[in-house]
Amino acid sequence: MRFEALSVFPEFFDSYLDMSIMGRARKRSVFEFVAHDLRSWTHDRHNTVDDSPFGGGQGMLMKPAPLFEAIEDISSRGEARPHVVFFSPCGRPYCQAVAEELSHKNRILLVCGRYEGMDERAYELADDIVSMGDYVLTGGELAALCVIDSVVRLLPGALGDEMSAKDESFSDGLLEYAQYTRPAVFRGRAVPEVLLSGNHAAVDAWRRRNAIERTARWRPDLLEVAELTDEERAFAERSMREERQ
Ligand code: ADE
Repeated sequence: MRFEALSVFPEFFDSYLDMSIMGRARKRSVFEFVAHDLRSWTHDRHNTVDDSPFGGGQGMLMKPAPLFEAIEDISSRGEARPHVVFFSPCGRPYCQAVAEELSHKNRILLVCGRYEGMDERAYELADDIVSMGDYVLTGGELAALCVIDSVVRLLPGALGDEMSAKDESFSDGLLEYAQYTRPAVFRGRAVPEVLLSGNHAAVDAWRRRNAIERTARWRPDLLEVAELTDEERAFAERSMREERQ
């Protein structure tokens, strides 16, 4: 999998992508990453990428020409055209299902906006527009890192333990169950007995119920679409009623 970013801060990405799990996966060629400097596709002395909005208003917009030239040029390189992702609060909400979908692409170009947004005509170049949530970021770079991180951990060989991405929150439509490590009693709070029992079936059953309880508490909206047995659904509804009391 090859990720590319188009940004006015191409130096932003490496410190994160060379660290920890991302760094190891990158070294092992689980993914490649290249950042392109948008200013390389400007033609004036000041390498201008922004301008004021027609009709007035606050702030500056990214000009269409450098974006068009950069995306056309980058897309024409290499064997496969990239899947071009733009970021905007107006995009489709990013979630684990979108990360899964993107994990099947070979090449992704993440276009990072800055300033107050982009000239609307630039969005014609997008194959996908993604929102990271109902809040406003100063630029798309953080959003791009969120996408890279969440997609890379789904790629074969990225995590040491092949199972660990399968057990995580959202992978089965539920939040992840609670986990504990030593000591078994900390400041008077004991770890649930069953986790110390060595009975794997009982541990699995406890984890499933705990995931449903936690989802009922923190994200009841997820339970509407989660795949549950009739018994689990009844338990989920009981848990939600208890939460409301
Ligand atoms: N740009 C600014 N805010 C954003 C958000 N919430 N998601 C994606 N792109 C953005």
